[in-house]
Amino acid sequence: MSFAVRSLAAGRRGSVRWLPQVVAGVLVCSFVLAGQGALTASAQAAPPSGAPAHAPAQNWSFNGPLGHFDLGAVQRGYAVFAGVCASCHSLTQVHFSDLGDMGLTPEQVTALAASWQVAAGRDAEGHLKHRKATPDDALPRPYADPDAARAANRGAVPPDLSRITQVYPGGPDRVYALLTGYAPVKPPTAEAGAAQPEAGFANPYAIGHRTAMPPPLRDHAVMYADGTQPIAQQEARDVTTFLAWISNPHADDKRRLGVGVGLYLCFLACLLVILKRRIWSHVAK
Ligand code: HEC
Repeated sequence: MSFAVRSLAAGRRGSVRWLPQVVAGVLVCSFVLAGQGALTASAQAAPPSGAPAHAPAQNWSFNGPLGHFDLGAVQRGYAVFAGVCASCHSLTQVHFSDLGDMGLTPEQVTALAASWQVAAGRDAEGHLKHRKATPDDALPRPYADPDAARAANRGAVPPDLSRITQVYPGGPDRVYALLTGYAPVKPPTAEAGAAQPEAGFANPYAIGHRTAMPPPLRDHAVMYADGTQPIAQQEARDVTTFLAWISNPHADDKRRLGVGVGLYLCFLACLLVILKRRIWSHVAK
């Protein structure tokens, strides 16, 4: 017994001998980490000159665990995509039948698909043939191949927008900021732009603060069926909402399921607490 006590005491003395070194190690580590934090903070305070500006956070209806897509805005956004963006950008992951989930009847989807033309092989003389799209078709690409896209857009290929709000750093906030963030073009600047077509368009949210995409939106670029005023900012909000929905169309269902599972687990936890109290009630006394 006494041996055990002595060895325990020796052990404690041993650990006490180590204590200052352990404390010193922890202090050194925390100083190093704090120094790194300060360095990172100073790096964030002064971003490199070509880095895109931070996009201000927008109040989207689909933000957060209780958010939901405003299907009216999604439909208006589709109108902006079809009327403006589709002349340069593709949505290859999307089929017309997918668009039914934005609140359209099957007849409306068929009519919407029929307003698009898709390639249908070649005729006897080798000319390209086209036909009206059906709900089973994917949205057509505006250019036959990347070389044609490059030739039409000052050497830049307009990216596919099927998943853009997921893969674009900054997400929907930055897409909106990019669409509304073009520096105002004055007539002399336009001439200078024509003199050097490679220069692109000034936009603080693009990499290098220049983008090959000409400002796509202006007031009244499209007609809205629901009577909303199509000012450029509204069009940018709606098309961003559409792109966010098309990149994650089942987000609302997942959120609803998540909330349901959370409520169920809370209910189950209450039942388990009551059960535990019952089982242990006689022991506690
Ligand atoms: C005249 C052709 C044209 C139209 C119309 C157009 N874009 Fe673009 N877009 C481009 C090109 C070209 C690029 C590639 C820019 C680059 O790499 O500098 C681009 C890039 C983008 C990017 C990625 C930006 C980046 O920094 O890589 C987004 C997002 C985008 N476009 C959204 C849209 C939306 C939304 C619309 C419709 C409102 C639209 N575009 C209309 C040509 C167009």
